[in-house]
Amino acid sequence: MKHLLKMMDLSKAEIIAILDLADQLKYEKKHGISHRLLEGKSIGLIFQKSSTRTRVSFETGAYQLGMQSLFLSSRDLQIGRGEPIQDTARVLSRYLDCIMIRTFAQQEVEDLAAYGSVPVINGLTDFSHPCQVLADLMTIRERYSVLEGLKMCYIGDGDNMANSLIVGGLKSGMQVSVATPKGYEPDESVLAFANGQEGFVLTQDPKEAIADADVVITDTWASMGVESEKEIRQKAFSGYQVNHELMQLAKAGAMVQHCLPAYRGQEISEELFEAHADEIFEEAENRLHAQKAVMVKLLQDAR
Ligand code: CP
Ligand code: NVA
Repeated sequence: MKHLLKMMDLSKAEIIAILDLADQLKYEKKHGISHRLLEGKSIGLIFQKSSTRTRVSFETGAYQLGMQSLFLSSRDLQIGRGEPIQDTARVLSRYLDCIMIRTFAQQEVEDLAAYGSVPVINGLTDFSHPCQVLADLMTIRERYSVLEGLKMCYIGDGDNMANSLIVGGLKSGMQVSVATPKGYEPDESVLAFANGQEGFVLTQDPKEAIADADVVITDTWASMGVESEKEIRQKAFSGYQVNHELMQLAKAGAMVQHCLPAYRGQEISEELFEAHADEIFEEAENRLHAQKAVMVKLLQDAR
């Protein structure tokens, strides 16, 4: 494992190894056991979009591992004035041991990895959000002890979360059932991977998708970059809200996950969100542990 660019690049064994290490690091953190495994290393955090969780969990996670972290906003970097990512990659590789980037185009992340010489971590693109999905899988596994055989249901926009959940879920041996409105399906490359795999269903009917699910996941209807479509999307997604009524069709006691930020009254009802708040905030916490595991794996392998 050289980089974390998208879920598609990870094998099942790599996913499980990251989750196992994340569990261990979480245990050590809770018990006050110091794990400064990456003492003296530096990570640059490039943000071309807003963030609460990703920024704070990477900064604190790096600190707990003994690393220095640098918050690099595209407003301040020369990228914002047109310096090519290829040059940025070659320059930053000479100062840093690892780069995390949150941006729009997946190609930019792929280019950063191709032109640089240090591990690159995707902190969200329009196409994928692998750090989030690793935290989700960790949280689901904490609850059920296994992933294999569970049914994951995703309802809403076929966005970066949908793309990454489908791949991460299927690779982990889960059944994955997705409901999106027409025209908002997941990426074609993801569907090419998923179609035909046992347990994968793509439908326009949320009721069909949620039937007997062990975990129900949703995300904003208007991701960063498409906010101007908010009104059109509200209409397109009406009937796709995850709420108590729909949850009746999932397995009794099913989990709810949301990467956050959540828009109550839109993709999720206020009542359902609050009823599952503990699981959702555990998921947010697990970003920290999962990303620490990713940094350790990448920087130990790079040695
Ligand atoms: N879930 C997530 O990535 O949150 P932020 O946008 O706050 O980083
Ligand atoms: N799909 C959302 C996820 C935010 C963490 C977005 O890209 O804005």
